[in-house]
Amino acid sequence: NASPVWGGRFKKPLAQKAVYFNESISFDKKLAQFDILGSQVHAEMLAKQGIISEFESHSIINGLKKISAKILKNEIEFSPEAEDIHMNIELCLLKEIGEIAKKLHTGRSRNDQVALDLRLYLKHEIEKIKITLNSLINSLEDLSIIHKDTILPGYTHLQKAQPITLSSYFKAYQSMFLRDASRLSDCYERMNFSPLGAGALAGTTLPIDREYTAKKLGFTGIIENTIDAVSDRDFIIEFMSSASIIITHLSRFSEDMIIWATEEFNFIKLDDAYATGSSLMPNKKNPDIPELIRGKTGRIYGNLMGILTVMKALPLGYNKDLQEDKEGLFDTVETIKNCLDIFNDFLNTVHFQKDAMLKSTENSYVWSTHLLEQLVNKGIAFRQAHEIIGKLVIYSYENNKYLHQLNKEECEKISPHIYTSLQIINKKG
Ligand code: ARG
Repeated sequence: NASPVWGGRFKKPLAQKAVYFNESISFDKKLAQFDILGSQVHAEMLAKQGIISEFESHSIINGLKKISAKILKNEIEFSPEAEDIHMNIELCLLKEIGEIAKKLHTGRSRNDQVALDLRLYLKHEIEKIKITLNSLINSLEDLSIIHKDTILPGYTHLQKAQPITLSSYFKAYQSMFLRDASRLSDCYERMNFSPLGAGALAGTTLPIDREYTAKKLGFTGIIENTIDAVSDRDFIIEFMSSASIIITHLSRFSEDMIIWATEEFNFIKLDDAYATGSSLMPNKKNPDIPELIRGKTGRIYGNLMGILTVMKALPLGYNKDLQEDKEGLFDTVETIKNCLDIFNDFLNTVHFQKDAMLKSTENSYVWSTHLLEQLVNKGIAFRQAHEIIGKLVIYSYENNKYLHQLNKEECEKISPHIYTSLQIINKKG
């Protein structure tokens, strides 16, 4: 026979090669529990509306409950012949409860079903990601309290610029991650509308109750336009954009940690539990964790480009191309969760080398701008003060000295105002 689902219209089954090319069960099985939940609520609604009987509805709901348990225990083997998770579960239900199973798909299409499952899945995952993101935000809060007096050079152009506190460094990343959390919340709110009941694209003539299923499944409301409901994947693009921004932040942070861990910087020491060695060079201690996070940025950006390209120029309505929305999404979800989680653990084990950081502000010219502003305080015009300190820096460079090593005589050669200002700065440092 042809397909048990649409066999009526076909005279022979799908070619074997086409079966494997067409299937999505190998990856959309991840949606199983969400598919079952959606179907249970759908069946409940069908009975409430008098479209199927209470008995039929109960039988379907209980059958699905059993299938859910079996899936969790890994007792069900899905088949590529049944193409995707939606039809696999429907076939399981047929085996479980018999003919009544054939009533489940009343007033519904796989098009609204898959759009529903993806939203339920992604809502669930966004909540988990937000929890991990919040742990990182909290770690940064703790670290910024611990290091409120830790001084290190701040950089621009990767050149020492001005002294900063380690606390303000952490707060910078905390601000970015707080915005990321708010972006995820926005994305969640915008996607929190139910496509169920939109059918293939034009709804149904049956008296279904879309608001009821939407409410029961935790949505704010329904997606009004049925064509939009089945063919929009903005919510995936939006989530992947947010994930791309998160991984951008993680990647920059990772890069700093990688640089800070070098012998040249020596601002941090990596904990043995979060660093790796070399199979050849006994001296090596490598920052694999932040390097890998930096590397996984490519995959997350790639997935975003993937979905954008799938959506580009798709004619309106469901197209099979949309089946390509899943693997990238699943990958982005898992990758971002893992990266946030391990980066938090990594960060909490890093040993910050406070003395080396401080020394790095002393053996440098990072206090120059402070010194300049001391001159401004004394009434010297900014541009003039800038020139004076510029000369002082050149003098120091040429004489192999740092600012704090200059004596009164040397300062006075350049300007009478410098020496006392330098005393103030040295005290501060
Ligand atoms: N496996 C399909 C997907 O992931 C489900 C929807 C199929 N709908 C259809 N009309 N063929 O998009």
